[in-house]
Amino acid sequence: MFLLPERHVSQGTVRVVTTAGSLLIVAALQLPGRAAGGTPGADDMIEFPLGAATPPEDCGTCHQAIYREYEYGFGSDMQNKAMVYQSLKDERLNLPHSGSTAPSAHAFAGTDPFPIHARGAEEEGKTCNVCHFPQPFKLPDLETAETVKPTPRPAQQQQVGVTCTSCHLTPEGAIRGPHAVEAPHASVQEPAMQTSAMCAYCHSLGKRVVGKQTQTFLEWREDFAKPGLGRQQCQDCHMPRTVRTTAEDFNQPARAVARHLWTGGHSAQRLGSALSLTLLQPAEDRASLEFHVINLGAGHSVPTGSNRRGIHLQVEAADASGRIAARQQWLFAPWYGSRPDDRAFLEEDKQRPDAVAATQADAQGPHESSIRAGEERVLGWQPKLPPGAYTIHANLIYDLNRYNDPAFKDDQTALSRTALAINVK
Ligand code: HEC
Ligand code: HEC
Ligand code: HEC
Ligand code: HEC
Ligand code: HEC
Repeated sequence: MFLLPERHVSQGTVRVVTTAGSLLIVAALQLPGRAAGGTPGADDMIEFPLGAATPPEDCGTCHQAIYREYEYGFGSDMQNKAMVYQSLKDERLNLPHSGSTAPSAHAFAGTDPFPIHARGAEEEGKTCNVCHFPQPFKLPDLETAETVKPTPRPAQQQQVGVTCTSCHLTPEGAIRGPHAVEAPHASVQEPAMQTSAMCAYCHSLGKRVVGKQTQTFLEWREDFAKPGLGRQQCQDCHMPRTVRTTAEDFNQPARAVARHLWTGGHSAQRLGSALSLTLLQPAEDRASLEFHVINLGAGHSVPTGSNRRGIHLQVEAADASGRIAARQQWLFAPWYGSRPDDRAFLEEDKQRPDAVAATQADAQGPHESSIRAGEERVLGWQPKLPPGAYTIHANLIYDLNRYNDPAFKDDQTALSRTALAINVK
């Protein structure tokens, strides 16, 4: 059942009531576009005293379609299934019921049990809240060399996750948007909202280190935008637009408005457009194969972001009777730190403040790095096969948590599956 926040309008007075029942404001408000003389006076402006912790319902009373996308994933194919942290015996981490299978990741950021559990298990909650629940921030310059951590919200204000005001409230207390508008709240036009600068703060951390986790914005800037692979900003791929009014009851002109969906690792549609896989036998009759994994669709590395993400390439050679004669697999994933994950560091890891997280990554050992924007990665395989006819099967599988038991499939998405018949002499 979908709940849209309630809203009452009568004779130029707006009374906004949230689903939580808390009265946001009762003001004698001149509705822009309705009342003669238009612009509301400063005294009539709605204010948001909770800052970045303002419940999204408070905005959804007027911006209904955007709220529906953010809160319920309207128009997306997102699937938020249960997760297990490590072993199949673990208790399943289920999203609290929200009435929809598909809230956007920003909407459930405050209640997503996976990061909350990881924070307790890995870092005692120390540093995670900076991106998962920040205070209002200034948009950084697109050319900024290093992304600093935003300021975290106090613990009691984290539940609401990445809210409308996380992105839209300026430190001065105005609502920023891409256009110059007349609104019942203090508004400021900020064209940079339509650029990747809007996402940089939370989707990258520190300096550019090729291969490391939390580098999405920097991967976009250095590997995709600068060399000219494409002109798309993050929004062009992750917030596709439609024509509509932004505040349904206000008679403002319709215009191109961004859908607030941000599909990523929980969307088969999104994942399916990222990579292509080609399998070939370069020399006839030889047991030698090549797998070409090509980043065709992402404006950054794949997988990107959290070190927990991984893509498995699993290959098998089946003989004429269907028996598996040889197997191989590769993992593509961001490194946890500034160097490749490696078992050689397991002893050293014990001394680190983030021992659990570092050990988890190093214990998995060396693996392929993520595939950069526009990159074609070629992997060779020379299985020992007696002469005969074989079918080579190759599977590319996305994994939301590469550290849990691979037998747990609910966090995996099949990306592609190919086969090639070969002869070996
Ligand atoms: C009482 C109704 C109301 C509430 C509550 C409200 N808004 Fe608005 N908002 C409007 C109207 C009306 C406009 C002007 C729309 C237009 O011109 O298309 C607007 C404009 C905006 C814009 C600028 C749009 C653009 O095209 O640049 C943004 C961003 C925005 N609101 C965000 C928010 C956020 C975030 C909240 C909650 C913290 C919120 N609004 C709460 C009515 C409201
Ligand atoms: C630099 C900002 C930043 C910091 C700091 C940060 N995160 Fe995240 N985290 C993100 C973003 C952005 C995502 C979204 C997915 C992605 O980029 O891979 C995410 C995703 C996750 C996920 C996967 C969630 C899912 O639904 O699959 C987990 C788990 C997680 N973070 C845990 C943590 C923990 C634990 C910490 C503290 C040690 C932490 N994060 C610190 C930005 C951050
Ligand atoms: C205030 C910090 C913040 C900002 C700003 C932000 N994000 Fe996020 N984003 C997050 C966090 C935290 C998560 C992970 C939430 C979770 O999985 O629990 C996330 C998740 C995502 C995901 C989904 C990943 C998945 O696993 O499904 C996408 C896609 C995404 N963000 C894109 C964007 C884009 C594009 C922008 C800029 C328009 C942006 N984000 C701005 C913090 C932020
Ligand atoms: C992760 C950051 C983020 C969050 C969270 C977010 N927005 Fe936005 N919003 C944006 C960006 C970026 C744009 C501009 C998109 C574009 O046109 O490129 C935007 C645009 C808008 C606009 C103007 C319409 C347009 O596309 O020009 C309104 C109104 C708005 N948002 C309201 C909301 C409301 C209400 C919520 C919460 C339900 C919300 N936003 C949550 C980033 C965010
Ligand atoms: C050309 C289109 C395109 C552009 C531009 C783009 N992305 Fe993506 N994004 C994708 C595709 C395809 C995927 C799925 C593959 C993957 O997870 O890497 C994706 C995945 C993601 C994820 C999901 C990671 C996860 O762990 O679930 C996040 C977060 C994200 N993008 C953020 C961004 C940000 C931030 C920007 C801008 C700095 C951006 N994207 C620019 C296409 C794009």
